[in-house]
Amino acid sequence: MSATAPTSNQPLIHQWMPFTANRQFMEAPRIIARAEGVYYFNTQGEKMLDGSSGLYCIPLGHGRREIREAVTKQMEEMDYAPPFQYGVPGAFRLAHELAQMLPAGLNRILFTGSGSESVDSALKIAIQYHRVRGEGQRQRFIGRERGYHGVNFGGWSVGGMVNNRKAFGIGLPAVSHMRHTAIPENKFVMGQGEHGADLADDLERFVALHGADTIAACIVEPIAGSTGILVPPVGYLNRLREICTKHGILLIFDEVITGFGRTGQAFAADTFGVVPDIMTLAKAITNGSIPMAAVAVREDIQQTILDAAPPNSVELFHGYTYSAHPVACAAALATLKIFRDEDTFAQVRANTPAFLEQIGAFRDLPYVTDTRGFGLLGAIDLEPEGAPGQRGFKVLCKAFEAGLVLRAAGDTIVLAPPFAATPDEIRQMTEIMRSVITAN
Ligand SMILES: Cc1ncc(COP(=O)(O)O)c(C=O)c1O
Repeated sequence: MSATAPTSNQPLIHQWMPFTANRQFMEAPRIIARAEGVYYFNTQGEKMLDGSSGLYCIPLGHGRREIREAVTKQMEEMDYAPPFQYGVPGAFRLAHELAQMLPAGLNRILFTGSGSESVDSALKIAIQYHRVRGEGQRQRFIGRERGYHGVNFGGWSVGGMVNNRKAFGIGLPAVSHMRHTAIPENKFVMGQGEHGADLADDLERFVALHGADTIAACIVEPIAGSTGILVPPVGYLNRLREICTKHGILLIFDEVITGFGRTGQAFAADTFGVVPDIMTLAKAITNGSIPMAAVAVREDIQQTILDAAPPNSVELFHGYTYSAHPVACAAALATLKIFRDEDTFAQVRANTPAFLEQIGAFRDLPYVTDTRGFGLLGAIDLEPEGAPGQRGFKVLCKAFEAGLVLRAAGDTIVLAPPFAATPDEIRQMTEIMRSVITAN
């Protein structure tokens, strides 16, 4: 399959493409023109497998009729209403459903428009919670190397991606980072590694260095996604939880990728048996159809903030024009219904062992330096060729030509099949990947 040209003669240069090698793209565009089920189609109508569930956000496959109908109906009924000082019925229904679905206690939901917005909202809620309790000095955040928490200032500051610092400077002032968990002892382990729970003790070291009473929250992705599927070692998240509880530090799980079934349970918190104080959600909540995201907060955290404010005053000085957008709420309600009706997360559990076995089998290929995975998330590290990221980018481009859309995080190739993919379709994805990696 060849790289495809745009449908018209219009120049492409006016769109400044996000997280894209713009100059290369303009020379050899990869245009996706249509989608259906677990397939994309290019402008020539050639089929490509969606190996990354969009950007991890469309697990049920493209074009679900139920979601389309719910969106259409909502558009006809009411396209928009202001979310500040007014409410729309769908938002309350959705918050109620999420509260039933989330781990016990995480039952206050703030809606946002993206994962990045959710992360910055969560950080601000953490600060305000401590302030109203008289602990306003708790301003420091603890993140982790190789964490990704979106692109807004709070999110990239607590994230641990060096490119952000290179491009944008210092970010938030009081942030420290724990070490990441991709350690050599766990190389080629599919699932959780046995080594590395003690890396959580880095948090204790920051407590010793800065004082627990200066730390507002510790934020981690249960499985770091965007930097290449770093699975937490056995016991690591439990240890973080213990340390946070001991020192009054809020634990934030960024479940933007892991939420809504990716690990085989509704949330990674369920899968790993560790409940945070605040959780950020996004990606799969509307099956990618309409932008929407959320922050789930422990009931007493919200109550503390509400109780501290004078009557008739806004308690949380925060929100977005598109918070709780009625059309997004309709899309999310339809998505959650499908998850329930089709027992979607059970499908994930059923497809996981074969998928992880296929990813693990890449270890016998040349240039493969590690394989990792959990649930329907798999990663293959390639030895760099030339500058870091060049080989990964080449594999991404060649896979597109071979009929597979995937993610490359530097030289790590990531596969995140839609939950709707059949075992055969998942096997086709790993086979295309195998042939592309072998040839490159
Ligand atoms: C863990 C995590 N947090 C936050 C974000 C940011 O989400 P968005 O791109 O919707 O702003 C992402 C996006 O990939 C993510 O993986």
